[in-house]
Amino acid sequence: ASHITSELTRVLYTNDQVQARLAEIAGEIDAEYADSDLLLVGVLNGAVMVMADLSRHLTSHVQMDWMAISSYGSGTQSSGVVRILKDLNTDIEGRHVLVVEDIIDTGLTLAYLMQNLQSRKPASLEIMTMFRKPEAIKSPVDVKYVGFDLPNEFVVGYGLDYAGRYRNLTDVGTLAPHVYS
Ligand code: PRP
Ligand code: MN
Ligand code: MG
Repeated sequence: ASHITSELTRVLYTNDQVQARLAEIAGEIDAEYADSDLLLVGVLNGAVMVMADLSRHLTSHVQMDWMAISSYGSGTQSSGVVRILKDLNTDIEGRHVLVVEDIIDTGLTLAYLMQNLQSRKPASLEIMTMFRKPEAIKSPVDVKYVGFDLPNEFVVGYGLDYAGRYRNLTDVGTLAPHVYS
């Protein structure tokens, strides 16, 4: 289990690049929500890293809350049918809400989540995602802040997992085939 960095075949984004991009996005968020009381909603588990880092690049007050959701169905593909394993602790009616995600892959998770959150009548509801795979999208999602686009390959690190592991890699990259074959 040691030396997990050696199991990446290609680094796509280093932690330095991720942090620099987060600082830029945080500047935009600080400006956009200067007069609002912002609630960041992280989607467990993948968004833990980006929530921790993005929030610390912000200079304004924010609150944080978390949801845990699970896709139904078998296999590695998201089915789009989602159930809530842990709901928010916060009533978001009238609140300015920014959903924070590690990645938008097919878009099915956020398509469901945004519909669900919108029904609770927030004052505003937007998305920040660290990564996005434009070629994998099945359900279009209106994203306000995007860190980086990724190729449609199996990518791990910075919250992105393979079988629950590799989230704690600080860099983001493609996994060596010997790991999953
Ligand atoms: C991953 C990722 C996003 C979602 C994106 O979460 O963190 O939440 O999939 O996929 P989609 O756009 O195709 O719906 P996952 O369900 O693997 O749970 P995790 O965050 O605990 O890894
Ligand atoms: Mn997730
Ligand atoms: Mg996952």
